[in-house]
Amino acid sequence: MPNEIDLVRARINIVDLVGQRVLLKRAGKEWTGLCPFHDDKNPSFRVSETLGRYKCWACGASGDIFKWVMETQRVDFREALEMLARDAGVTLSHRPSGETKSKRETYTQAMAIALRFFRDELPKASHAREYCESRGLDEATILEWQIGYAPDIGDALASRIKRDGIPLADAQELFLVDSDAGGGFYDRFRGRLIFPIHDERGALVAFGGRLLGDGIPKYINSGDTPLYSKRRVLYGMHKAKEAIAAKGQAVLVEGYLDVIACHRAGVRTALASLGTALSEDHAKLLKRWCKEVVILYDADPAGQNAAERAADVLQAEGLSPRIALLPSGEDPDTLLRSVGPAAVLRVTEGGVTPLDYRLKQLGERLDPSTDEYWQEVVHAIAKEPSAVERSKHMIALSNRHPAERDPERALRNLRRQVAAAGRRLRQSRRFAENATKPAEVVVDRSLHPFEQTLFRALLEEDLRERAHLAIQDERLFLTQTGLELSRAFCEAFPERPPLGPPANWLSHLEPEWARQRLGDLGLDQTVKIDGDELSGAVSRLRLELEKRSIREMHRDTQLDDEGLAEVARRLRKVAGTEASG
Ligand code: UTP
Ligand code: MN
Repeated sequence: MPNEIDLVRARINIVDLVGQRVLLKRAGKEWTGLCPFHDDKNPSFRVSETLGRYKCWACGASGDIFKWVMETQRVDFREALEMLARDAGVTLSHRPSGETKSKRETYTQAMAIALRFFRDELPKASHAREYCESRGLDEATILEWQIGYAPDIGDALASRIKRDGIPLADAQELFLVDSDAGGGFYDRFRGRLIFPIHDERGALVAFGGRLLGDGIPKYINSGDTPLYSKRRVLYGMHKAKEAIAAKGQAVLVEGYLDVIACHRAGVRTALASLGTALSEDHAKLLKRWCKEVVILYDADPAGQNAAERAADVLQAEGLSPRIALLPSGEDPDTLLRSVGPAAVLRVTEGGVTPLDYRLKQLGERLDPSTDEYWQEVVHAIAKEPSAVERSKHMIALSNRHPAERDPERALRNLRRQVAAAGRRLRQSRRFAENATKPAEVVVDRSLHPFEQTLFRALLEEDLRERAHLAIQDERLFLTQTGLELSRAFCEAFPERPPLGPPANWLSHLEPEWARQRLGDLGLDQTVKIDGDELSGAVSRLRLELEKRSIREMHRDTQLDDEGLAEVARRLRKVAGTEASG
């Protein structure tokens, strides 16, 4: 395995890999661009081929090719390795846990069998076809979204799965079948139109099923399974992500048919959370692809409440939500069919900020001459993260205060109340966070400038030997990080320093933070390095060591005359060195 990892590393050029998503420009030996991990205005992001690493000097994101794929595609190390190995043409022989792997294959196979089964059933069921027609789902749409039908027979899918040699216990874990009291298995989806659900990479992970007609529950969705977590998957994401990245915007709707309707109307950025409110994980996923999210929920009170909550979740992740208002009683699906694609397109282009939206709602619900209205206004403004937005609204509202005729004074009052409400809000948020999240231990990884030079020299072929020799002396280090980094390096390369560009050997350094710290130094433009810098840093560190030892000696109260003379002699020498250096 480690050989295969190295092979993948050797074959994948980090500049090409990162360059697929970030526009990179050459800057000396390195490449720079706008950081994809935060809202970067000036290029703070650097990629080095010799190091095989990237680093953003503004937000701190850094890593190698594997970390890059893990972060940008939201996958774990194993999946990143598999993806890059495929690109590199490396066959991974050793599978980390053979059992879970074959289990995964079984799951994937079971899902594929189910999908084929549902899709084959639809043409055979005339009432299902009629239902599709009544909802405007034509052949092309059925094909594109792989819509199927689960017949209303107790165990049609169960017997198919069994016939194909998949253990029904595995199919049960996937929410395809369930066991009855007699030990048999029956289908979870019966008499329903089936919508396959894919994750953002296009892997089939779940199904949703809608009754043909009225009844309860209208929809059934797969529960969480080994392949599916509803908090993480957005319906339509795999089809929408490219358009979302290109536009910098996503359109969030409520359900399957709304997503499909939007795409048909040309809004290819539409997606939906399924049978669950928008979660923090959903917001994080969206944030990888865009900055702005237009929320297009039903116009009924439930839909509008959900829209406000979704806006809160998105704002908390630093996204900019806009709430679009649909004509009452409509959703994108009905709008497409009653008015047409242009109407759907138009609503997605509208949309107001959550604050505008809330103030409008308040104006409709409460009398602006009441205290209650103003309390709610203060609360709504306090929730707005942008100071500019808050200020704009306070100024506009200060002219309308019923009790305070002087707008200047009304504005001052408003500012004070909003500030207080903001403090309360942050306090309760902090409280909620502390209650759910374990305290994060922040480790100080700073190095003294002399130490930086020493470690930086390890990255240069012509200086590496000398630097390696120098770091053998543990007493030289002034910081805990310096000490630990030197130990990590000497442990990885005890006999002699490694050869070749750091990209070839940096990955052998353990633990991860050491790799990262050293890699970051290589991309740090402020650390200058040549032979003289290295000699200077080493002698300064030796001098500091000598001073420390003199100080220690001096602290010894038992010191006799001879000892004192020794201290004096060493002090003079140190002073001399310092004056000349
Ligand atoms: P709606 O009840 O608004 O349905 O639920 P809809 O999308 O307009 O569906 P149609 O047009 O009547 O077919 C919105 C979404 O909430 C989820 C579904 O994703 C649905 O599309 N939902 C709703 C469920 O998961 N389960 C339910 O029982 C109801
Ligand atoms: Mn609908």
